[in-house]
Amino acid sequence: MKTVRVLLSVLLLVILATASLGEEAAMEQIYQSDFTAGEDGWYPRSMGTAQLAAAPDGAMLITGRENDWNSPGRDFEMIPGLRYSFSVEVKQDEVDTASFMISIAHSAGGQESYENLGRGQAARGEWVTVNGAWMASAFDRYVLYVETTGAPTLSFAFRNFTVLQEKADFEQEEIPSLSQLYQDYFDFGTAVTRFEAQNKARMDFYASQFNLMTPGNEMKPDSLIDVRASRELAKEDQTQVAVKFDDVTPLLDYARDNGIKLHGHVFVWHSQTPEAFFHENYDLAKPLVSREIMLSRLEHFMAKTFAYVEENYPGLFVSWDIVNEAIDDSTGKLRSSNWLKVVGEDYLLRAFELARRVAPEGLKLYYNDYNTAVPKKQDGIVKLLKELVAEGNIDGYGFQMHHDIAYPTVSSIRASVERVALLGLKLRVSELDITIPNNTEAQLAKQAEEYGAILRLLLPYSGQLEAVQVWGVSDNLSWRASGYPLLFDGSQQPKPAFWAVVDALEDKAP
Ligand code: XIL
Repeated sequence: MKTVRVLLSVLLLVILATASLGEEAAMEQIYQSDFTAGEDGWYPRSMGTAQLAAAPDGAMLITGRENDWNSPGRDFEMIPGLRYSFSVEVKQDEVDTASFMISIAHSAGGQESYENLGRGQAARGEWVTVNGAWMASAFDRYVLYVETTGAPTLSFAFRNFTVLQEKADFEQEEIPSLSQLYQDYFDFGTAVTRFEAQNKARMDFYASQFNLMTPGNEMKPDSLIDVRASRELAKEDQTQVAVKFDDVTPLLDYARDNGIKLHGHVFVWHSQTPEAFFHENYDLAKPLVSREIMLSRLEHFMAKTFAYVEENYPGLFVSWDIVNEAIDDSTGKLRSSNWLKVVGEDYLLRAFELARRVAPEGLKLYYNDYNTAVPKKQDGIVKLLKELVAEGNIDGYGFQMHHDIAYPTVSSIRASVERVALLGLKLRVSELDITIPNNTEAQLAKQAEEYGAILRLLLPYSGQLEAVQVWGVSDNLSWRASGYPLLFDGSQQPKPAFWAVVDALEDKAP
């Protein structure tokens, strides 16, 4: 395997050298408008009196508009779970400046919905390029269009409407599988978003590398809590919560059908949680609810979620972040949040107690936080964990590890793992990513070294460490994309960091 690896590394270097990658290299042009022979499939949306006509400079002109959305549009085929980027040149001669948007009208089951994908301003008489981007979701029909905002009757010309599609080549060269390599030590996992989960080829590639997945956003309170339906329930009973699972269903279905384990994320957090959850009648105009009602809401929220996954995906979930990021970075005390305000200082203790009461047997309950290597914060986290351990309802601690190449140091990371491990809890690295300032060969090498060092310092804890999860697979889809933080590049090719993770096992391998 070593020879294969060296060969592949050489191959990778060749690819890196010739393509000088970046986002663009991972995209291919699938359409560019050509109006030489007519309208090329474009038509005025919701027509009215609007008309298209050929214009000079390879452009098409739209006149007679009555509404902003009364705009040139065209049907496109799009593949769910792939990234798209768009550009179009626009020109208008009627006002000092006008705002343009590239938008999409998509429909499913006859229901049309809209998203604005990019914006730009065009001064009178000048050709201006508007850019946009989108990750495609599953719909029956996709219409891209070029519209104005606040200029419903403006006539304008457009040309060179261009669509780039992410290269959907998930066929990997023969590379080792991280989850198989590490199977004797811990699970190897990744975060997956609902967009990614809608593309089977992409998911098959992920499943070849990872045996554990976490929804990147789709099981956060703002995804799971159905505020409108909760408001209805609250009319009868203030403690009730309505939950919905639409966003996470593609991922759960895929995981169930392909033998992937799930780690849930997250119930109690200061972020990505509807403000209405904390208010009487789920109404922002009403006061905050009492401590008792809030705890009851939390219990119902967790109980309903667990009941749903147990019924529909029995045994799929192995662990869950019950509380996320409760400690303040600078003080090491509890961060101010609605949870602290409404429930009080013991909210974590109560959350874990309730979680234990309603969680399926054997599900591991985790507290998850970042910056564990920072001294003040580490003190706060350890103090909190001790209190939780004393009550006996917590199973594990998750180190997020959203790092940068410059900070924190490997020795401080090692020290933080050492210290938390002494508490005897299960451990996981829940959200590993490491940013670098640019993707030159030198930086990619440094990043690889850092990934390798982290894996090597973790390996001795394999009896206690349940999983290492990266927070995403390829750089271009990362929440920190500008820092190239992950193991695969935007063309789904393994980076030096990937090989460093493979090599970290070298000394250990039987
Ligand atoms: C991030 C997601 O990856 C982003 O898509 C979203 O916009 C913000 O949240 N700590 C966590 C994760 O626990 O839930 C966060 O995920 C990253 C930081």
